[in-house]
Amino acid sequence: MEDRFITSTKNWTDAEIENSLRPTRLDEYVGQEKIKESLKIYIKAAKTRKDALDHVLLYGPPGLGKTTLSHIIANELGSQIKITSGPAIEHAADLAAILTNLNKYDVLFIDEIHRLNKTVEEILYPAMEDFALDFIVGKGPSAKNMRLKIQPFTLIGATTKAGMLTGPLRDRFGVIARLELYSDEELRVIINRSAKILNIEIDQTASLDIAKRSRGTPRIANRLLKRVRDYADVLGTGKITKEITDQALAKMEIDELGLDFIDRKILESIIYKFGGGPVGLETLSATISEDSGTIEDVYEPYLMQLGFISRTPRGRVALENAYNHLGIPYTGNNTK
Ligand SMILES: Nc1ncnc2c1ncn2[C@@H]1O[C@H](COP(=O)(O)OP(=O)(O)OP(=O)(O)O)[C@@H](O)[C@H]1O
Ligand SMILES: [Mg+2]
Repeated sequence: MEDRFITSTKNWTDAEIENSLRPTRLDEYVGQEKIKESLKIYIKAAKTRKDALDHVLLYGPPGLGKTTLSHIIANELGSQIKITSGPAIEHAADLAAILTNLNKYDVLFIDEIHRLNKTVEEILYPAMEDFALDFIVGKGPSAKNMRLKIQPFTLIGATTKAGMLTGPLRDRFGVIARLELYSDEELRVIINRSAKILNIEIDQTASLDIAKRSRGTPRIANRLLKRVRDYADVLGTGKITKEITDQALAKMEIDELGLDFIDRKILESIIYKFGGGPVGLETLSATISEDSGTIEDVYEPYLMQLGFISRTPRGRVALENAYNHLGIPYTGNNTK
């Protein structure tokens, strides 16, 4: 994974610049119009009522802006944000400590919330519902249920796997928002904005070109922008032109749709080894030696958006668009 430019999962070089490129207000956050519109209303209502904003669940593939949006929500609320993640909270007591330390209307951000363990998760139920912690004091017949009030707060949960959330947890979120892949035009705006912040000169044809190869993902757009800048610095005058962009992306073996060798391997394997599919995820994963979770979360969303594959109850199927893109004659698949 480390040597892939277009993976949407975060790597260490992203971390340093992501902070400088993160929009801080809703108005600077490009795209996701429906989510922004409703959030604006809910935030305003919560502030006028002097109430905590309802708990928010953000889900969608990596790199689409869940963490960014959580910070923005806290910012717009004028609240502090405390950040943790599902796997970081090992014991119920750890979460209880975090919750009792929250100030009124704070935002608690739990990344990868689908990875909370059961006992920890159960602490969250009364906390989310009644702003309270329930615990049992003593043992045997003299044991007593105790309830401790905590400050009203907003939980923001982020996950790439909403399907892995338990029903009771999911039901306690008032706002559930699914982030969508971005359009080329939205990504172009993001690239131009980042270029401005990083002091990079870029042609409009080049920013659209990078946008088209960014798989609908802002994180990839920003990463490609930086890599292409390196080429522009070495091969040209530092300015990013269409020519430099094409050269750089060809060197990185990223095609005009943003597909790289692993995407091609997935498609070719479905087509050549499984007659176009259907093929089960696990079989596919074993065939190309890629983790099935990664195939599902990172590669498939974009391949599906392109209309290259579909998920059927019997497995993954390659569609005619995929054959056309790879220049393979379409012979149909085995679904019929
Ligand atoms: N709507 C947006 N407008 C502008 N930039 C954005 C937007 N969404 C994301 N970005 C940029 O993309 C980068 C990655 O976003 P972010 O870290 O919020 O993704 P994520 O959904 O939390 O990913 P992960 O699932 O890996 O945690 C951010 O640093 C930010 O610069
Ligand atoms: Mg994140």
